[in-house]
Amino acid sequence: MIVIDDLAGWSSLRDEWQSAGYSVGFVPTMGALHEGHLSLVNRSLVENDRTVVSILVNPTQFDEQGDLEAYPRDLERDTLLLERAGVHVVLAPDPEAIYRDGYRYRVTEKDRSRSLEGAHRPGHFDGVLTVVLKLLHIVQPDRAYFGEKDWQQLELVRGMADALFLDTEIIGCPIVREADGLAMSSRNVRLDAGARARAAEFASVLQAGGSAEQVRSRLEGLGIDVDYVEMLDGRLLAAVRIGGVRLIDNVPA
Ligand code: PAJ
Repeated sequence: MIVIDDLAGWSSLRDEWQSAGYSVGFVPTMGALHEGHLSLVNRSLVENDRTVVSILVNPTQFDEQGDLEAYPRDLERDTLLLERAGVHVVLAPDPEAIYRDGYRYRVTEKDRSRSLEGAHRPGHFDGVLTVVLKLLHIVQPDRAYFGEKDWQQLELVRGMADALFLDTEIIGCPIVREADGLAMSSRNVRLDAGARARAAEFASVLQAGGSAEQVRSRLEGLGIDVDYVEMLDGRLLAAVRIGGVRLIDNVPA
């Protein structure tokens, strides 16, 4: 496995792979990897000759400075996990190299990005779509893998790929959960023991189903601070704040 932080170095390896006729799978991440990320990686390894994983805590998608600063970072541990999994390249560029335009150019979706996560995190999806577009152009993968954990993100990336005639196939992968049902997330490490138990209750209330109103009132009954619970395209999606940590999840309705 090679860890590459300069984009020119990556581009010459990409050219070699192109000449060799390798298919390329790509998994964009912000690091702090867990089994959820690794499920995407493993799927890419099965479906492609070569797999690239990017690790970049993307500053433009954070609407709260504190959240960006608190985001867990451990490149050494992440690269070890990816090496063991059998990944070929880890791309870990500097945000300054990715945003060499100073974020003057960005992708904005004007409808579906404004609800749910977008309503609670202004500018979030501009940051996500912009960095994903840049990374797709840099990596030029045949397939890119995204988790259903971030349902709205997956839908918006699919929409962007279609709208902008991207060559990459966008593949959605199921949510990986802890044994008690909590969806795996890099943010879970910030939950203390009490908050961790309430986070599991959040997951089980959501999975028990019901109307959005019922789920909201059950969560509020447990003293959980609800950002939203909404039904969209046959999914029940929710975001809550527990112990100062914002958690999202979704289930088929
Ligand atoms: P990050 O939160 O690191 O997630 C990287 C990918 O892993 C996303 O596609 C996410 O949906 C998926 N993922 C996270 N937890 C998962 C779980 N429990 N089960 C299945 N998949 C899971 O999402 C981002 O980073 C960023 O927004 C990014 C797309 C990298 C752009 O910066």
